[in-house]
Amino acid sequence: MRPQDINILIACEYSGNVREAFRAQGFNAISCDLLPTERPGPHIQGDVLEVIADQKLITPGGSGFHAMVAHPPCTYLSTSGIHWNTHVPGRKEKIPPRERAKLTEQALDFARALMDANIPHIALENPQSIISTRIRPKDQCIQPWQFGHPESKATWLWLKNLPLLRPTNVLPLPSVGYWENQTPSGQNKIGPSAERWKMRAKTYDGIATAMATQWGAYLTSVQAGQTFPRPPVKARSKGQCPRPSRR
Ligand SMILES: C[S@@+](CC[C@H](N)C(=O)[O-])C[C@H]1O[C@@H](n2cnc3c(N)ncnc32)[C@H](O)[C@@H]1O
Repeated sequence: MRPQDINILIACEYSGNVREAFRAQGFNAISCDLLPTERPGPHIQGDVLEVIADQKLITPGGSGFHAMVAHPPCTYLSTSGIHWNTHVPGRKEKIPPRERAKLTEQALDFARALMDANIPHIALENPQSIISTRIRPKDQCIQPWQFGHPESKATWLWLKNLPLLRPTNVLPLPSVGYWENQTPSGQNKIGPSAERWKMRAKTYDGIATAMATQWGAYLTSVQAGQTFPRPPVKARSKGQCPRPSRR
Protein backbone atom coordinates (compact mmCIF):
# COMPACT_ATOMS: atom_id res chain seq x y z
CA MET A 1 0.00 0.00 0.00
CA ARG A 2 1.30 3.46 -0.88
CA PRO A 3 1.59 6.10 1.91
CA GLN A 4 -1.15 8.20 0.27
CA ASP A 5 -3.57 5.26 0.69
CA ILE A 6 -2.88 5.05 4.43
CA ASN A 7 -5.34 7.18 6.41
CA ILE A 8 -4.06 8.62 9.66
CA LEU A 9 -6.15 10.54 12.19
CA ILE A 10 -4.33 13.00 14.42
CA ALA A 11 -6.81 13.36 17.27
CA CYS A 12 -6.97 16.44 19.50
CA GLU A 13 -4.45 18.43 17.51
CA TYR A 14 -4.95 22.12 16.76
CA SER A 15 -1.30 22.87 15.89
CA GLY A 16 -1.16 20.68 12.78
CA ASN A 17 2.41 19.65 13.71
CA VAL A 18 2.01 15.85 13.67
CA ARG A 19 -0.46 16.01 10.78
CA GLU A 20 1.97 17.99 8.60
CA ALA A 21 4.89 15.69 9.56
CA PHE A 22 2.89 12.67 8.30
CA ARG A 23 1.73 14.56 5.21
CA ALA A 24 5.36 15.46 4.43
CA GLN A 25 5.99 11.69 4.25
CA GLY A 26 3.08 11.35 1.79
CA PHE A 27 0.43 9.95 4.18
CA ASN A 28 -3.23 10.92 4.05
CA ALA A 29 -3.22 12.51 7.49
CA ILE A 30 -6.06 14.59 8.86
CA SER A 31 -6.29 16.33 12.22
CA CYS A 32 -9.32 16.87 14.41
CA ASP A 33 -9.83 19.24 17.33
CA LEU A 34 -12.61 21.29 18.90
CA LEU A 35 -10.42 24.27 17.88
CA PRO A 36 -9.56 25.33 14.32
CA THR A 37 -6.18 24.27 12.96
CA GLU A 38 -3.32 26.74 13.35
CA ARG A 39 -1.60 25.56 10.17
CA PRO A 40 -3.56 25.24 6.93
CA GLY A 41 -4.27 21.63 6.04
CA PRO A 42 -6.94 18.92 6.26
CA HIS A 43 -8.66 19.39 9.60
CA ILE A 44 -12.07 18.61 11.08
CA GLN A 45 -13.20 21.03 13.76
CA GLY A 46 -15.43 18.97 16.02
CA ASP A 47 -15.66 16.06 18.43
CA VAL A 48 -13.10 13.40 17.55
CA LEU A 49 -15.28 10.58 18.93
CA GLU A 50 -17.90 11.45 16.30
CA VAL A 51 -15.19 11.48 13.62
CA ILE A 52 -14.08 8.00 14.72
CA ALA A 53 -17.69 6.76 14.75
CA ASP A 54 -18.13 8.12 11.19
CA GLN A 55 -14.70 7.04 9.91
CA LYS A 56 -16.10 4.91 7.07
CA LEU A 57 -17.99 7.95 5.74
CA ILE A 58 -15.02 10.28 6.05
CA THR A 59 -12.15 8.22 4.60
CA PRO A 60 -11.54 7.52 0.88
CA GLY A 61 -13.35 4.37 -0.28
CA GLY A 62 -14.76 3.89 3.23
CA SER A 63 -11.52 2.20 4.26
CA GLY A 64 -11.46 3.81 7.72
CA PHE A 65 -8.41 5.06 9.56
CA HIS A 66 -5.37 2.78 9.57
CA ALA A 67 -3.73 4.61 12.45
CA MET A 68 -4.35 7.34 15.02
CA VAL A 69 -2.04 9.56 17.06
CA ALA A 70 -4.07 11.09 19.92
CA HIS A 71 -3.23 13.97 22.25
CA PRO A 72 -6.15 14.13 24.72
CA PRO A 73 -6.29 17.04 27.20
CA CYS A 74 -4.21 16.46 30.34
CA THR A 75 -5.81 19.07 32.63
CA TYR A 76 -7.56 16.48 34.82
CA LEU A 77 -5.17 13.60 34.12
CA SER A 78 -1.67 14.88 34.76
CA THR A 79 -0.35 13.77 38.13
CA SER A 80 1.48 17.07 38.66
CA GLY A 81 -1.74 19.01 37.91
CA ILE A 82 -3.75 16.93 40.33
CA HIS A 83 -1.09 17.47 42.96
CA TRP A 84 -0.73 21.23 42.72
CA ASN A 85 -4.41 21.84 42.33
CA THR A 86 -5.25 20.15 45.59
CA HIS A 87 -2.26 20.27 47.89
CA VAL A 88 -0.05 23.29 47.29
CA PRO A 89 -1.13 26.29 49.38
CA GLY A 90 -1.46 29.54 47.47
CA ARG A 91 -2.41 27.91 44.16
CA LYS A 92 -5.92 28.78 43.08
CA GLU A 93 -8.33 25.86 43.11
CA LYS A 94 -11.47 27.17 41.47
CA ILE A 95 -13.20 23.80 40.99
CA PRO A 96 -14.70 22.12 44.06
CA PRO A 97 -13.23 18.64 44.73
CA ARG A 98 -16.42 16.73 43.87
CA GLU A 99 -16.73 18.51 40.51
CA ARG A 100 -13.03 17.97 39.89
CA ALA A 101 -13.39 14.23 40.56
CA LYS A 102 -16.24 14.12 38.02
CA LEU A 103 -14.12 15.94 35.43
CA THR A 104 -11.25 13.52 36.07
CA GLU A 105 -13.53 10.53 35.44
CA GLN A 106 -14.82 12.16 32.24
CA ALA A 107 -11.26 12.78 31.07
CA LEU A 108 -10.40 9.13 31.78
CA ASP A 109 -13.49 7.98 29.86
CA PHE A 110 -12.38 10.11 26.91
CA ALA A 111 -8.83 8.68 26.98
CA ARG A 112 -10.26 5.15 27.29
CA ALA A 113 -12.56 5.72 24.30
CA LEU A 114 -9.57 6.85 22.22
CA MET A 115 -7.43 3.88 23.31
CA ASP A 116 -10.29 1.46 22.53
CA ALA A 117 -11.14 3.05 19.15
CA ASN A 118 -11.71 0.69 16.27
CA ILE A 119 -8.41 1.65 14.57
CA PRO A 120 -5.64 -0.96 14.14
CA HIS A 121 -2.63 1.19 15.19
CA ILE A 122 -2.92 3.75 17.98
CA ALA A 123 -0.51 6.01 19.87
CA LEU A 124 -1.86 8.09 22.73
CA GLU A 125 0.36 10.79 24.22
CA ASN A 126 0.06 12.59 27.58
CA PRO A 127 2.38 14.04 30.20
CA GLN A 128 2.88 12.04 33.40
CA SER A 129 -0.68 10.90 33.83
CA ILE A 130 -3.08 8.84 35.92
CA ILE A 131 -3.90 6.95 32.71
CA SER A 132 -1.02 4.68 33.77
CA THR A 133 -2.61 3.76 37.09
CA ARG A 134 -6.27 3.94 36.08
CA ILE A 135 -6.25 2.41 32.56
CA ARG A 136 -2.94 0.73 31.83
CA PRO A 137 0.78 1.38 32.33
CA LYS A 138 2.52 3.52 29.74
CA ASP A 139 4.70 1.84 27.13
CA GLN A 140 7.32 4.56 26.79
CA CYS A 141 8.52 7.83 28.24
CA ILE A 142 10.25 10.26 25.87
CA GLN A 143 11.85 13.68 26.26
CA PRO A 144 12.24 16.49 23.69
CA TRP A 145 16.01 16.48 24.35
CA GLN A 146 16.12 13.01 22.76
CA PHE A 147 14.77 14.56 19.52
CA GLY A 148 16.98 17.63 19.11
CA HIS A 149 15.18 20.15 21.38
CA PRO A 150 17.21 21.35 24.40
CA GLU A 151 14.11 21.18 26.62
CA SER A 152 12.60 18.90 29.24
CA LYS A 153 9.00 17.65 29.16
CA ALA A 154 8.42 14.02 30.10
CA THR A 155 5.92 12.68 27.58
CA TRP A 156 4.30 9.31 28.05
CA LEU A 157 3.13 7.09 25.22
CA TRP A 158 0.58 4.27 25.22
CA LEU A 159 1.03 2.23 22.04
CA LYS A 160 -1.20 -0.28 20.29
CA ASN A 161 0.49 -2.13 17.43
CA LEU A 162 3.21 0.49 17.01
CA PRO A 163 6.92 0.26 17.83
CA LEU A 164 8.67 2.38 20.45
CA LEU A 165 10.04 5.67 19.15
CA ARG A 166 13.81 5.68 18.71
CA PRO A 167 15.62 8.89 19.79
CA THR A 168 16.88 10.81 16.76
CA ASN A 169 19.22 13.44 18.26
CA VAL A 170 20.06 13.07 21.95
CA LEU A 171 21.33 16.31 23.53
CA PRO A 172 23.33 16.49 26.78
CA LEU A 173 22.07 18.50 29.76
CA PRO A 174 23.60 22.03 29.46
CA SER A 175 26.49 22.75 31.82
CA VAL A 176 24.26 25.14 33.87
CA GLY A 177 22.38 22.01 35.00
CA TYR A 178 18.93 22.81 33.61
CA TRP A 179 17.21 22.86 30.22
CA GLU A 180 16.37 25.94 28.13
CA ASN A 181 12.66 25.82 29.08
CA GLN A 182 13.45 25.60 32.80
CA THR A 183 14.29 27.97 35.63
CA PRO A 184 17.36 27.06 37.75
CA SER A 185 14.99 25.22 40.16
CA GLY A 186 13.65 23.08 37.30
CA GLN A 187 10.24 24.80 36.94
CA ASN A 188 8.82 25.64 33.52
CA LYS A 189 9.85 29.13 32.43
CA ILE A 190 6.61 30.10 30.67
CA GLY A 191 4.75 32.45 32.99
CA PRO A 192 0.96 32.33 33.54
CA SER A 193 -1.08 33.60 30.58
CA ALA A 194 -4.20 32.69 28.62
CA GLU A 195 -2.01 31.09 25.93
CA ARG A 196 0.28 29.18 28.31
CA TRP A 197 -1.50 25.82 27.92
CA LYS A 198 -1.31 26.12 24.13
CA MET A 199 2.41 26.85 24.14
CA ARG A 200 3.06 23.89 26.45
CA ALA A 201 0.67 21.49 24.66
CA LYS A 202 2.14 21.77 21.15
CA THR A 203 3.97 18.69 19.95
CA TYR A 204 7.69 19.37 19.36
CA ASP A 205 8.67 19.28 15.68
CA GLY A 206 11.47 16.76 16.34
CA ILE A 207 9.02 14.36 18.01
CA ALA A 208 6.41 14.90 15.27
CA THR A 209 9.03 14.09 12.62
CA ALA A 210 10.17 10.96 14.49
CA MET A 211 6.55 9.76 14.76
CA ALA A 212 5.93 10.33 11.06
CA THR A 213 9.15 8.76 9.78
CA GLN A 214 9.36 5.80 12.18
CA TRP A 215 5.67 4.93 12.56
CA GLY A 216 5.11 5.84 8.92
CA ALA A 217 7.76 3.31 7.83
CA TYR A 218 6.24 0.73 10.17
CA LEU A 219 2.70 1.30 8.82
CA THR A 220 3.89 1.12 5.20
CA SER A 221 5.66 -2.19 5.79
CA VAL A 222 2.74 -3.68 7.76
CA GLN A 223 0.22 -2.63 5.10
CA ALA A 224 2.49 -4.18 2.46
CA GLY A 225 2.36 -7.45 4.42
CA GLN A 226 6.05 -7.28 5.32
CA THR A 227 7.48 -8.16 8.69
CA PHE A 228 8.85 -5.13 10.49
CA PRO A 229 12.40 -5.82 11.64
CA ARG A 230 11.86 -4.56 15.21
CA PRO A 231 10.50 -6.67 18.07
CA PRO A 232 7.06 -5.83 19.50
CA VAL A 233 6.84 -2.96 21.94
CA LYS A 234 6.15 -4.98 25.11
CA ALA A 235 9.26 -7.08 24.70
CA ARG A 236 11.60 -4.08 24.85
CA SER A 237 10.08 -1.49 27.14
CA LYS A 238 9.34 -1.08 30.80
CA GLY A 239 8.40 2.55 30.17
CA GLN A 240 11.21 4.06 32.28
CA CYS A 241 11.95 7.74 31.71
CA PRO A 242 15.36 8.49 30.18
CA ARG A 243 18.06 10.37 32.12
CA PRO A 244 20.22 12.96 30.35
CA SER A 245 24.00 12.79 30.28
CA ARG A 246 25.84 15.92 31.40
CA ARG A 247 27.77 18.09 28.97
C1 LIG B 1 -3.24 18.94 25.18
S1 LIG B 1 -4.01 19.65 23.77
C2 LIG B 1 -3.12 18.83 22.50
C3 LIG B 1 -2.43 19.77 21.56
C4 LIG B 1 -1.61 19.07 20.49
N1 LIG B 1 -0.43 18.41 21.05
C5 LIG B 1 -1.20 20.02 19.39
O1 LIG B 1 0.02 20.09 19.06
O2 LIG B 1 -2.11 20.69 18.84
C6 LIG B 1 -5.55 18.82 23.79
C7 LIG B 1 -6.51 19.22 22.69
O3 LIG B 1 -7.66 18.37 22.74
C8 LIG B 1 -8.74 19.08 22.18
N2 LIG B 1 -9.99 18.35 22.50
C9 LIG B 1 -10.59 18.20 23.70
N3 LIG B 1 -11.71 17.44 23.59
C10 LIG B 1 -11.83 17.11 22.30
C11 LIG B 1 -12.79 16.35 21.54
N4 LIG B 1 -13.83 15.78 22.13
N5 LIG B 1 -12.59 16.23 20.21
C12 LIG B 1 -11.52 16.82 19.60
N6 LIG B 1 -10.59 17.55 20.26
C13 LIG B 1 -10.74 17.69 21.58
C14 LIG B 1 -8.57 20.46 22.81
O4 LIG B 1 -9.27 21.45 22.08
C15 LIG B 1 -7.05 20.63 22.79
O5 LIG B 1 -6.63 21.37 21.67
